[in-house]
Amino acid sequence: MRTYRIAPSILSADFARLGEEVGAVAAAGADMIHFDVMDNHYVPNLTIGPLVCAAIRPLTQAPIDVHLMVKPVDRIIPEFAKAGAGIISFHPEASEHVDRTIGLIHEAGCKAGLALNPATPLSCLDHVLHRLDLVLVMSVNPGFPGQQFIAHALDKVRLVRRRTDEEMRGQGRELMLEVDGGVKIENIAAIASAGADTFVAGSAIFGSGDYAASIAAMRRALASV
Ligand code: DX5
Ligand code: ZN
Repeated sequence: MRTYRIAPSILSADFARLGEEVGAVAAAGADMIHFDVMDNHYVPNLTIGPLVCAAIRPLTQAPIDVHLMVKPVDRIIPEFAKAGAGIISFHPEASEHVDRTIGLIHEAGCKAGLALNPATPLSCLDHVLHRLDLVLVMSVNPGFPGQQFIAHALDKVRLVRRRTDEEMRGQGRELMLEVDGGVKIENIAAIASAGADTFVAGSAIFGSGDYAASIAAMRRALASV
């Protein structure tokens, strides 16, 4: 039996009331708070940084799951660690030295994730999977909330699951498989069946009137897997 985690992406929250929104989604049962960092360089959008991470940190017990869509990536890692990040994920295309970046995240005391765009080959996991705590499979091209789930990502999740299972065999450690982009109540069970255990959902939660009801509906769908 897999442990499933739901990580609402605050990119779809009402930023004029961000603190309240974080509190509300945490009270609604979020397992982690997904925090999308965009730099208008690696991706064509500009969002929030370590100051905002530090501001929301005291508002919830849930780990903050920082998704860095920034290039370069290394310099900002200690700042997010100081701001209270629990997990820091980055894109291999945004780092000149992927192994070094993973090391920096661990040295800063955080869990390390590698985020794979729809067209990023799985070969980027070679030689680093043993050091990762999380693999993030993007099911949209990063940059914006509310995009359509790319169905092909399910095949990728199946392939990543095989590799993570193999990696974890005989080891006590945990290696999360997270999916980000277009996750909804309607498709979460299919994504879990493909092998994901951690689900980012922005518009599906914050776009709904009732966060607790949306998260509960996702959990019911996951219970059917
Ligand atoms: C996309 C971000 C996602 C996004 C998810 O670039 O990384 O986290 O905000 O939003 P939805 O769930 O609306 O696709
Ligand atoms: Zn994200």
